Amino acid sequence: MKQTNWTEKYRPRFFSDVKDQDLAVQKVRDFVKNFPKTVKKALVLHGPPGVGKTTLAYVAKNETNSEIFELNASDLRNKEKMNSILKPAIEQKSLMKEQKIILVDEVDGISVVDRGGLLELMRLIEYSTHPIIITANDIWNKKFSDLRRKTESVQLKEVDFQSIKEILIGILRNERKFISNDVLTNISIKARGDVRAAINDLQTASSLPDPSKVLIDERNKEMDIFTALKMIFKGKPNNALLSLYDSVNKPLDEIMLWVEENIPLEYHGEELVKAYDALSKVDIFKRRIYRQQYWRFLVYENAFLSYGISSSKNPNETKSGFTSYKKPTRILKMWLNNRRTEKKKSIAKKYARYVHIGEKRALYEFATVKAFLTKPEIQKELKLTEDEIEYLGKETLSNKI
Ligand SMILES: Nc1ncnc2c1ncn2[C@@H]1O[C@H](COP(=O)(O)OP(=O)(O)OP(=O)(O)O)[C@@H](O)[C@H]1O
Ligand SMILES: [Mg+2]
Repeated sequence: MKQTNWTEKYRPRFFSDVKDQDLAVQKVRDFVKNFPKTVKKALVLHGPPGVGKTTLAYVAKNETNSEIFELNASDLRNKEKMNSILKPAIEQKSLMKEQKIILVDEVDGISVVDRGGLLELMRLIEYSTHPIIITANDIWNKKFSDLRRKTESVQLKEVDFQSIKEILIGILRNERKFISNDVLTNISIKARGDVRAAINDLQTASSLPDPSKVLIDERNKEMDIFTALKMIFKGKPNNALLSLYDSVNKPLDEIMLWVEENIPLEYHGEELVKAYDALSKVDIFKRRIYRQQYWRFLVYENAFLSYGISSSKNPNETKSGFTSYKKPTRILKMWLNNRRTEKKKSIAKKYARYVHIGEKRALYEFATVKAFLTKPEIQKELKLTEDEIEYLGKETLSNKI
């Protein structure tokens, strides 16, 4: 029997079901109510994953008894499609319902090179007679500056863990299931504001003989990289490999360096070509994720790096024997260094915005302002991430020694 997905089953239907996003709810409500007498013709809902962006668009539809007309990045790119589908959709009044809402979900999916799609979206905003709701994870990329100007942007925040816990309790009550209070609290905290992640964990937990295992699994990312490499390079490719890296105690970027370093130790000839081809695809997705913050591509990155590499081997040849896998020292250093520079840059950027100076100058002055940046109240004000704070801690420490 196929189990229904709880995140879909419990997707809010009305404004009152959307938790801990009061400001966004108010803005969406006003926007659809007052349209077309609104200052801007489109609303951008942006924020981290799983906090209610797409949901709010559908709630707006229900509450106004409208239809949703959904467009994705590739539709926008396709002029013909835009003309053949959207024009009539905009011009004809909907037959059954009063109003239409146009939803452009996950606009971050439009790539940097694809300016056409964005331009088309701008035009759509100009001439549309229907309210447009756009969602995105991150709209601070330069390529969205025109979009930001033409739209009203509304930020959704990470949902507070107490609210998440209440959502989970509501679901359990409805499902007539019980999970202890401690486990519920921990799932809610672990989700870090992402309601979808919490509900998914809850569903998994409720199907386990011991629901608390859901948390332990996460803590026990214990498989070492050598075992993982052995399974990839020596084992038969199978679907279980797709989740292999979930249990490895290293980030995916680092795993990629390990795989890269060790491919020539296991593969030869045709196998090498295939493996490097898979690896180049990993790289492409990695870049796309990095540039566009399009986290869904992680699935593909992961698939090429696991199944892709594993299936590059000659199926008629068994790889037995022990291989002493090498640690990718040189590139690892480069990579770590790059990560450090990235963090420095991102901190400098926040600081620059805060004190109204250019990013270049902030970087230049970095050494001087570093002491100032280690103050917790400043870090809070600049909204530094945990990683960035950790970086500053290490930096000042190593300077003192
Ligand atoms: N504020 C909220 N109140 C209640 N449930 C929520 C809320 N936010 C998210 N959810 C739950 O999480 C699921 C996913 O939410 P949604 O699809 O709106 O996320 P999103 O913000 O669009 O994320 P993404 O950036 O990944 O597209 C919903 O189906 C719903 O079950
Ligand atoms: Mg969404």
